[in-house]
Amino acid sequence: MPGSASDVEDFLSPSWMEQRRVRYDYTNSLAAMVGEKHGVPHEELKRFAKDNQHVVKEFRRKEDKGEIGFTQLPSTVEYREQVSRFLLKAKGKFDYLVVLGIGGSALGLVALQEALKPEATLPCTPPSRSVFPSLHVVDNVDPALVSLVLNRIDLNRTLINVISKSGSTLETLANFLIFRSALIAAVGYQKHSRHIVVTTTMGEGYLFELAQKEGYQLFAIPRNVGGRFSVLSPVGLLPAGLIGIDLMELLAGAQYMKELCHRLPAMENIPFFSAVIQHLLDTRKGKGIQVFFAYSSLLRGLARWYQQLWAESLGKRLNRHGEEVFCGQTPLVSIGTTDQHSLLQLFGEGPNNKSITFLEVSHLPGQLTIEEAPSPHEITDYLKGKSLQEVLLAERRATELSLTSGARPNTAFILPEVSPFTLGELIYLFELQTAYAGELYRINPYDQPGVEEGKRTAYALLGRRGYREKKKEIEKKLPPRRYII
Ligand code: PA5
Repeated sequence: MPGSASDVEDFLSPSWMEQRRVRYDYTNSLAAMVGEKHGVPHEELKRFAKDNQHVVKEFRRKEDKGEIGFTQLPSTVEYREQVSRFLLKAKGKFDYLVVLGIGGSALGLVALQEALKPEATLPCTPPSRSVFPSLHVVDNVDPALVSLVLNRIDLNRTLINVISKSGSTLETLANFLIFRSALIAAVGYQKHSRHIVVTTTMGEGYLFELAQKEGYQLFAIPRNVGGRFSVLSPVGLLPAGLIGIDLMELLAGAQYMKELCHRLPAMENIPFFSAVIQHLLDTRKGKGIQVFFAYSSLLRGLARWYQQLWAESLGKRLNRHGEEVFCGQTPLVSIGTTDQHSLLQLFGEGPNNKSITFLEVSHLPGQLTIEEAPSPHEITDYLKGKSLQEVLLAERRATELSLTSGARPNTAFILPEVSPFTLGELIYLFELQTAYAGELYRINPYDQPGVEEGKRTAYALLGRRGYREKKKEIEKKLPPRRYII
């Protein structure tokens, strides 16, 4: 088991990092394991990867030209320093942190919180005596959720971080206006700006202008970093730092993965190789669904973040040449062992249209050993003396074996522990994997035209100025009558 940062003197040394390196096992995606109908012959896989190595070069070219910015985030000192200065200033001033954002402006933070500060998300958590504020991410315009948060917090001791790259997202602005007026009612207009920080694109957008006018502190989202690729920018760093997540270790993990990807040949570059495998399983073996099966409840948030990253980036009607392709693999979150009693029956015996991606953690915190049962019994005897970690890993392995024998292709990411370092590695890995997959599908993984269309429709329905024509267009398409029974 890797030693913790505190008891290992060589923190962040090459051997410390090597012990925490994320690995990828693709054995069970091969035809040799699941048959040629559902798995990829190893030779075909290697040939395809070799023939598509230009994808890695093409991506680096875009990186060098500054078209893609997320890969620069692990080493951008400026953001970390600006955040650190704010953390010093805010220390001890706030008991609550409310983050208002949605999609890429919320999910990465939730992933970090659930994995690295799980105590804050458990329903049985007693009122916090922590030095860090308790975090509430409000990512829905659900009056039940918003009023619950408003009723639970003391606005005099609350910091509100509103996050929006465009500065104009309906849900975020609606919630912001509600929280802002509640805040002004509680602390007065004069003081309210001390309780609000804005993370947005510098120099443009409604939120930027408002922040300037009202004197809210601003944090930047770089223009060349898309929402769902932005967790390692101030979008994630600021709130994560505020709740006590070690930002240096998080960014070091991402930087480590970046360096590995640069150093290793394409065949050992996990983001590239795993993108190739998913692409082949989808396009040649009919695996249009990718189940993201994380074997730890700590990783539910990460799975949901990945779900958005993969879905919104790759689900596209048009390719880069404007041709209709309707591509993308549907990601589906699943948690082991919980969903073995919910979804696994379908994965194992339902339509063979899924590729299963396991996420396995070698060492989880909280080692617990199962005690002797009140009386000997074959139903419990075999459990005695086993740790819950052993049980979890055995069940993960059992699921893998049964899926493989049922010809269901599966792969596994193996992380030594859940820590800021390994989360940093995974975030970088999955972002790059998604970017490479976009190149393989020949689509633009950085836009979301379908979501934008939904936004315009909502503006029209809510009567936003400039959307009258859109409203008329919608009204023409409404059914003459509804069939509701
Ligand atoms: O990944 C994305 O680009 C989206 O999910 C956005 O993050 C989401 O739509 C919110 O947009 P914004 O940050 O502009 O408020």
